[in-house]
Amino acid sequence: MSPNNKLTIGLFGYGVVGKGLYSVLHNTPTLTSTIKKICIKDISKKRDIDSSRFTTNAANLLQEDEINVIVEVIDDADAAFKIVKQALQNGKAVVSANKKMIAEHFEELLELQKKYNVPFLYEASCCASMPIIRNLEEYYDNDLLNSFRGIINGSTNYILSKMSTEKQDFKTALLNAQAAGFAESNPALDIEGYDAVNKLTILLAHSFGVVTKPSQILFTGIQNTSEVDTQYALEKELKIKLVGSIKKLQNGRLAAFVLPQFVNTNDDLFFVENEFNAAITESTFADKHFFKGKGAGAYPTASAVLSDIGALRYNYKYEYKKLYNNDAIELTNDYYLNVFISTNDISKIKKEEFEWIDAYQNTFSKCWLTGVIHAQKLITSNWWKQQGVSLILCEDAIVENVDYKKISKQSLALAGIT
Ligand SMILES: NC(=O)c1ccc[n+]([C@@H]2O[C@H](COP(=O)([O-])OP(=O)(O)OC[C@H]3O[C@@H](n4cnc5c(N)ncnc54)[C@H](OP(=O)(O)O)[C@@H]3O)[C@@H](O)[C@H]2O)c1
Repeated sequence: MSPNNKLTIGLFGYGVVGKGLYSVLHNTPTLTSTIKKICIKDISKKRDIDSSRFTTNAANLLQEDEINVIVEVIDDADAAFKIVKQALQNGKAVVSANKKMIAEHFEELLELQKKYNVPFLYEASCCASMPIIRNLEEYYDNDLLNSFRGIINGSTNYILSKMSTEKQDFKTALLNAQAAGFAESNPALDIEGYDAVNKLTILLAHSFGVVTKPSQILFTGIQNTSEVDTQYALEKELKIKLVGSIKKLQNGRLAAFVLPQFVNTNDDLFFVENEFNAAITESTFADKHFFKGKGAGAYPTASAVLSDIGALRYNYKYEYKKLYNNDAIELTNDYYLNVFISTNDISKIKKEEFEWIDAYQNTFSKCWLTGVIHAQKLITSNWWKQQGVSLILCEDAIVENVDYKKISKQSLALAGIT
């Protein structure tokens, strides 16, 4: 495609993002592109544009020669993969916002792009309007980037914000997030951290060239965040955020996880509220960069899809430089984490799994401890994810210092726990 090429789009999905894109495209006259046909699931649904524009037959888009771009914004990851695969096989460029589908099929999608040599762009899949993929892909050289940390799920951030600033309870805040179009059709994807870990999987590939499955990454969401946690945060002038982190450790390997974390006012993430996403990158020479943008909603997401559509006119493709010039950087679970754990029943906490316990409270109304635990112990067990147990990372989450580890087990005895 050249800048003068006309883009003829086949659009899959006319929900929050699809409708947003339709509207945004009609208000962007500089982009010579038209939507030829829209494929949806339920033809009987009332739409705000002429019914002749819609079809439920995917082949009407995928087999149509005039259509040279497929935009996939549906909420069904399995169906989305079939659509994207067929489109790439048919030589059509593809733009998608479907992080679940991309994270789960990353390797197959890489193969398809190589084999059919067509662009597949998905900026909207990670932080909606905040252009993080293209920045990670183009700006940072692999050996310069040291860490990525970010709020990469708009609806959980919206819920945590409403709980902390407006004292809304969890359910009300979730309903408000859904009403505003920020939450996934299945809210468990957001709340339980699946959406964020899918995004972190994609970001790992573009930041450090690591291809893995979401199931290999330590994660949870905010489903168990309790009043004890918010009260603790308030008393210490902290906020709770769901944070995705990737960090190059001293041994050259990578730690990657998505977990709730306490942040203080020295942390740029402290001030990121509502549906905003944000990311902090740290690199050897540039030092720190801070990105912030709307991470959900019709127009912010459509704006990222639009940016990808625009980039197709210039033949833009992800080159996956860090992946293909691989310096064999590996993921590891061999590090320690500084955690706060609250519970409604102290027997649910496996205290013997801790290396070190710093503080401990067990009263009728409050039951929590802070301490250090090996990441592998969290990966291989589920006690800390069960109902009534809430794990939140402390501000300095990763413990690498060997001397600190030496102090270790004695503290359990001192705290009267073993
Ligand atoms: N909402 C956001 O803020 C946001 C942000 C970033 C990324 N995303 C991603 O964007 C995608 C769409 O999200 P959304 O919020 O727009 O979802 P949505 O409002 O639930 O809309 C989903 C659309 O997909 C259509 N659809 C479902 N299965 C289909 C199939 N097999 N074939 C054709 N159409 C099908 C539905 O058709 P009917 O209309 O007939 O039901 C509907 O129009 C998801 O992958 C989501 O993760 C969303």
